Amino acid sequence: MLSEQSRPVIEATLPVIGERIGEITPKFYARLFTAHPELLDGMFSRANQQNGTQQRALAGSIAAFASHLLAHPDTLPEAVLSRIAHKHAALGIPESGYPIVYDHLFAAIADDLGDACTPEVAAAWTEVYWLMADALIAIERGLYARQANDVMWAEWRVTAKEAAGAGSITFRLAPADETPVTRATPGQYVSVRVQLADGLHQARQYSLSDRVDSLTERVFTTKLDEGGEVSPFLHGHVNVGDVVELSNPYGDIELDDTDAPIVLATAGIGCTPSASILQSLAGSASRRPVLVLHAEQRAENWALEAQMREAVAALPNAELRLWLEEPTTAADAEAGFMSLDGVEMPAGAKLYLCGPLPFMRSIRSQAIAAGVAPTDIHYEVFGPDVWLAA
Ligand code: HEM
Repeated sequence: MLSEQSRPVIEATLPVIGERIGEITPKFYARLFTAHPELLDGMFSRANQQNGTQQRALAGSIAAFASHLLAHPDTLPEAVLSRIAHKHAALGIPESGYPIVYDHLFAAIADDLGDACTPEVAAAWTEVYWLMADALIAIERGLYARQANDVMWAEWRVTAKEAAGAGSITFRLAPADETPVTRATPGQYVSVRVQLADGLHQARQYSLSDRVDSLTERVFTTKLDEGGEVSPFLHGHVNVGDVVELSNPYGDIELDDTDAPIVLATAGIGCTPSASILQSLAGSASRRPVLVLHAEQRAENWALEAQMREAVAALPNAELRLWLEEPTTAADAEAGFMSLDGVEMPAGAKLYLCGPLPFMRSIRSQAIAAGVAPTDIHYEVFGPDVWLAA
């Protein structure tokens, strides 16, 4: 809980920090990577640094955390912390990184605010930082402890590389070393780490896209991001027989074991976590009502179409609705963007969202208007979660 001394200082300075944080974070990262260039080798994404999304996510999360402490002094924003901690754990962020980030962040704040960064202001924001850092460290410790091993990167060999809709590929992998395998849960992701042509390691998170209960196989599907670094490498240079490094599975989407209806609303390559959830429901012959809502620009882009249709057909209480921006002959598709008008949301449904942010924002608002409880809405963002900053 925020101390009595710090509370009024945070209240008074949150707007200034909020306004300046867009300037502070690039300065912070420039300092951090000058002092620790090794953090760009396999930990931070070079692409996200270049496009600024990671900087907005971090900035947004600290401001969101401080606002939460002011509004709800007795609680922590669990969902925000959990999302970040899972991402951190999937990248092997060590506890020893927190004082390093603190030093460079606060040097950047002092530099940016100048005289306005009085000792009281610095002390109050230091308190916010460590409340957040300690909460993250505690969750991350718990996540590491849950794994079947204490290995950050295990070797996995590609056993199949399958086309999965225009521009997407499914990789199937088997363990290539003796590391004990952690069983994943549906909707989770793994980090995939590769060494690029210039020698730099880069890691990205990919949702597991098939059944996740296997201890001898991991399956993920990636869409080619032509401006990216890792998906072009995977698509172009990683073939059957090659070895890549995978993290343990992380990600805080959780499929509860109640009988509540499930609505999976996805767009584009956001179908991958849904596909693993569907496989797992079909694998356990679930009788839960399942409504699958999926949107694509074009029919041929739909990665995992066959797998998802088969799972829906195998489930006794599942229904699929499809929207296509450019409808073709697919008989069961509606034209245009997904809309919940005319979709009957089952009472008490758990809604899982995955897709581009504007899509998720729109469906979330429509779902709430249709009576879905905000606490029953779960989402997965690919890439840094700039929703946190909103
Ligand atoms: C990702 C916040 C400490 C390394 C993130 C994200 C947030 C965040 C909001 C984006 C999560 C998402 O994908 O949605 C914080 C906060 C920290 C902290 C508030 C301290 C209180 C650290 C430390 C390190 C670190 C100590 C390592 C030295 C990373 C990396 C990513 C990340 C590598 C993924 C970034 C990427 O995509 O390039 N963090 N973080 N963070 N964080 Fe942290």
